[in-house]
Amino acid sequence: MLTKIKNFFIVLLLVLVISQFLRPEKNEASYDSITAFEEATLVSSDVKTILENNCYDCHTNSTRYPLHMEVSPVSHWMAYHIEEGKEHFNISEWESYTIEEKDHKLEEFIEEIRMMKMPLKPYTWINGELSSQDREKLIKWAKETRIKIKEKPLDSLPKAESDTIVVDSVKVDSIK
Ligand code: HEC
Repeated sequence: MLTKIKNFFIVLLLVLVISQFLRPEKNEASYDSITAFEEATLVSSDVKTILENNCYDCHTNSTRYPLHMEVSPVSHWMAYHIEEGKEHFNISEWESYTIEEKDHKLEEFIEEIRMMKMPLKPYTWINGELSSQDREKLIKWAKETRIKIKEKPLDSLPKAESDTIVVDSVKVDSIK
């Protein structure tokens, strides 16, 4: 029995050592697309810090890689969940979402935070849970942003300024 247990641990150790050489591809594109999102949604420096420390790793194209993220099996677990997280909600692609999609993502964003489903579980073992103040700040920002993105600037602006806005909205539409 004892030798069986010993063999089991030797095999486990070997698997762990070998898996260190099977490095998953990194998610390390530029931060520019995140800056575009932050500017478009008027993220305050407070909210930015919370998103950066708790969400961007899995929901942007630009993950941070501290040493513990480079160690298997953490690295493999992360790579899989980054892919899945980005499929559902990719902040780096914010500008390519339609207004309806943006609104729907923010609705889900509020829901996930309320139900304490995000950040995903084992990730919080290392990174820590969101405090209730942080959750409130995120929800407040998401609610305000939902209202802002649905506002039609043309209706609320005086005529003299509307020409430049029309040009802007044409530009935005042609990108989509
Ligand atoms: C360790 C990776 C990871 C972290 C960190 C993380 N998420 Fe997620 N997120 C996922 C995965 C995987 C999914 C898809 C599966 C699911 O819903 O559980 C997801 C789904 C979501 C969705 C649902 C989108 C949809 O269309 O259904 C939202 C919204 C979301 N996350 C927001 C957040 C926010 C806000 C944070 C930070 C507070 C965060 N996530 C942190 C991995 C992560």
